[in-house]
Amino acid sequence: MKNFTDEFLWGGAIAASQADGAYDEGGKGLDTQDLRYFDASWDKTKRTENRNRNMTTQMFEEALKAKDITHYPFRWGIDFYHTYKDDLALFEEMGMKIFRTSINWARIYPNGDDKTPNEEGIQYYINLFDECHKRGMKVFATILHYNIPVNLVTQYGGWKNRKVVDFYVRYAKTLFERVGKRVDYWLPFNEINCSRFNTYNGCCLIKDQEEDYESMIFQCAHHQFIANALTIKAAHEILPGAMVGGMIARFTTYPATCKPDDVMQMILDDNYRNYFYTDIMARGKYPEYAQRMFAESNIHIHKEPGDDEILAKNTVDFLSFSYYMSMISTTDPNYEKASGNLVSGSKNPYLESSDWGWQIDPVGLRISLNQMYDRYQLPIFIGENGIGAHDVLESDGSIHDTYRIEYLREHVKQMKEAIKDGVNLIGYTMWGIIDIVSCGTIEMSKRYGVIYVDRDEEGKGTNKRYKKYSFEWYKKCIESNGEDLD
Ligand code: BG6
Repeated sequence: MKNFTDEFLWGGAIAASQADGAYDEGGKGLDTQDLRYFDASWDKTKRTENRNRNMTTQMFEEALKAKDITHYPFRWGIDFYHTYKDDLALFEEMGMKIFRTSINWARIYPNGDDKTPNEEGIQYYINLFDECHKRGMKVFATILHYNIPVNLVTQYGGWKNRKVVDFYVRYAKTLFERVGKRVDYWLPFNEINCSRFNTYNGCCLIKDQEEDYESMIFQCAHHQFIANALTIKAAHEILPGAMVGGMIARFTTYPATCKPDDVMQMILDDNYRNYFYTDIMARGKYPEYAQRMFAESNIHIHKEPGDDEILAKNTVDFLSFSYYMSMISTTDPNYEKASGNLVSGSKNPYLESSDWGWQIDPVGLRISLNQMYDRYQLPIFIGENGIGAHDVLESDGSIHDTYRIEYLREHVKQMKEAIKDGVNLIGYTMWGIIDIVSCGTIEMSKRYGVIYVDRDEEGKGTNKRYKKYSFEWYKKCIESNGEDLD
């Protein structure tokens, strides 16, 4: 029976905005994540609200003027920009075979519309990726993990504007030409379905500036689909054989009951939250069910002549998704609610939850892998999976994160089951392999890493790295190719 192949890519993932810091060094321009505000004195409710609150014009303008960066954690991250060599040494010690990170658009084109790229930014990625290969790791590069140069929002309106597609494709081509040979797997967009569920992160929309918000979300998404397809085209022309993937945040969902209405609701949720995005990227056309959603929700988008052909001719080479939890679909408005990544769902009585209320469901990963593979028959790369928790650094420097080991172990077991089911699973990059600032709630205290970073929510601390218990566990898992999971 099939198992993890010898080529299986065990790795770890982070994103530039959450890790790099150095927001104004090396010629980098300000980016949209640099403007997200956090206050360490906020209580849990305020933090959760902040996750769901969309950017407002007032918040955006205040952030542009801000001098004190304490409240803008994405500006300092874990200073990976300066520490990457030491961090990669730890990844090498763990035996990691691949490292996923994102490239910061504003390091390459500080304003997005600059005439020439920033050479210092390009050199940084050459150095980073060379260092990965030197340490035996392949590179999985996300071209855009939410943050775009702020100038593209203030001058052009961000993804609303078709011109941003051209700027993006030019940026991607620069990467293919200048650092392309150093990258093994490409992901044009992190979680492309985020454009719908966190509209500032996903497509830089500022809600109070929109007259027809719903239509604009899908207009931005259309522009991203076109940018994605043109990027695939460019990659295949410039780098023959390049592997370019499409990624979503996977919202695995079950019907709350076997009542037919709940089952139908599950199908609708699955279609509109997940498959709408992968259908376009993998099958190369808008699915039939989208017409009904557009009509019933009064959504109007503009397509340029030739757009359908662009989508049809340039589909993805593999699929990727992030998987953290599962959710419940129901037509009952009073069903008990639960928290989750990007969207909140309903409570599943059979599952435990993380410290942040995300419902832990390893079997859901096997279900998702089967569903995605069955539908598209494309190789699958799990781009993110992990658990955010309150870790404690003990006085002797140890971190006893047995709950993380448990979470990872059960998910790896289910990956193995999925491979036995016949799924062509090619890799797994655990999220965030080293502690970074959380994306949703901007908390440094929500930690995912197998490596602890001594930094608090105001950026204070030694920034020193410590191996958690899970470090040795993941090392053993990689060494034994997923066999030794004790
Ligand atoms: C994914 C994002 O949706 O979820 C990551 O791609 C993010 O950037 C991850 O960090 C976990 O979410 P959070 O809010 O716990 O950081």
